[in-house]
Amino acid sequence: MRIIRKHGFAVLCFIVTFIAIHFSYRELEKQVERMNTEVFTEGISLETGADTSKIIEVSASISQSWDDYDDEGHSCKGGQYDFTVTNNSDKPIQNWKLVLHLPKGGEIDSYWSGEIFNEDTEITFVPGEESKKILPGTTESFGFVMYSGVLRRIQEFTFYGSYEVNLQELEEYERLLGCFYLWSVLAVVYVVFEVMMYRAEKKRENDMRIIIETMETFSNFIDAKDSYTKGHSKRVSQYTKHMAKRFKYSKEDITKIGYIALMHDCGKIGIPDSVLNKPGALNPDERKVIEEHTKVGGNILEHYTAIEGIKEGALYHHERYDGGGYPEGLKGDEIPFVARMICVADSFDAMNSDRCYRKHLPKEVIIKELEKNMGKQFDPDVAKCMIDLINEGVIPCADD
Ligand SMILES: [Fe+2]
Repeated sequence: MRIIRKHGFAVLCFIVTFIAIHFSYRELEKQVERMNTEVFTEGISLETGADTSKIIEVSASISQSWDDYDDEGHSCKGGQYDFTVTNNSDKPIQNWKLVLHLPKGGEIDSYWSGEIFNEDTEITFVPGEESKKILPGTTESFGFVMYSGVLRRIQEFTFYGSYEVNLQELEEYERLLGCFYLWSVLAVVYVVFEVMMYRAEKKRENDMRIIIETMETFSNFIDAKDSYTKGHSKRVSQYTKHMAKRFKYSKEDITKIGYIALMHDCGKIGIPDSVLNKPGALNPDERKVIEEHTKVGGNILEHYTAIEGIKEGALYHHERYDGGGYPEGLKGDEIPFVARMICVADSFDAMNSDRCYRKHLPKEVIIKELEKNMGKQFDPDVAKCMIDLINEGVIPCADD
C-alpha cells in the first residue's frame, strides 16, 4: 500500500501517457492505410491534346498515322498512340491504371510497357511490373498501335490510383516517435532515480540504526555506572518524548528529542564511581565534580552532528529557569527548550525513583514539587505539561 501511495500517481501518469501514444500510433497507422488504399480518380478531357492536373499530368498524342488495308482488303487507318503519365505529387502513386474513352471500333495491333484491354468504347492500360509505381516527379510512358476505319481520337480519360505512404516518412510519425523516446527516457530516469532514492533511504535507515544502537548501548553504560538510577536515561527519554508530543513537535523531531534526552547524562561516564555512587550527602568538592558531568557531556557530544541539539541537551539540562543552575547559569528562554524539558523529566524521574537514602516520593508530593518550582527550577509551561501528563496517567508514577 505504501508503494502504491508513493508511486501510484507517477505510474498512472506513465500508463496514461503510454496509452495515449499507443492510440495515436494506431490512429496514424489507420490513416496511412486509408491513404494507401483510397483510390483517387482524375477525369480529364483530352480534346485539346494534353491537360495538367495537380496530381497527375497525362499527355496523349498520335505520333504517326498511316493508311493500310485489313485482311479482307478494306482500307483502314493505322495510328501509333503515345502516352506519358507524370506524378506531380510528393508521394509515390501505386496500383494505377488509365482508362481511355474513345469512339467505337478499332483493333489493337501491338502495345508496350503494360497490358491493354480493349472493350467497346474503352481502352484500359494497366502498367507492367516496372511501371507499377510512379515516383514523385517522374514520368511513365506507354503506348499502342491501333487500326480502325477512321483515325480514332481519344476524347477523355480516367486515371485511377492510390498513394503509397510510408508511416516512417510522415511528420506526425516523427513527432510521435519523439514523444515515445521522451516517455522512455523519463520512465528510465524515474525508475533509476527511485532505485537510487530507495538505496539511499535504506542506507540512511541502516546508518540511523547503527547510530541508535550505539546510543542505546552507550546509555546502558551510563546507567550501569550509576547503581541507583538504573534505566534512568531511557525513562527520561520516554518522558521527554511525551512532552514533545504534547508541544506538537513533528514525529521526526520527537524521535530526535528522544535521543537527545537519552544522552543527557553521558558526561557521567567521566565522573569517578566513588563520587557518583557515594551513599549519603556529597560535600561541596564532590558536588562540584558531579556538576562537571554537564560539561563533560557537552565535550563528548561536541562533534556529534547526526542529531542537532544533542550537545545542548547534555550541557544545559541542569540549568534552572531562574538562572540559578549550572554550568553557565542560563535563564528562561536562554536555555534551549529541549534542555528545559529534559530538566523536568530528569527531576521527575529522580523524585519518582527509589534511592539508597529514601524511597520514591508520593505522587501528590511530586506534583506539589513541580508546582512549587514553576518559574524557579522549571519552565512553567513545561512543568504544567508534565503535571498534566501525570494526572492523565500518560506518565505513570511509582504509586500508580
Ligand atoms: Fe544530569
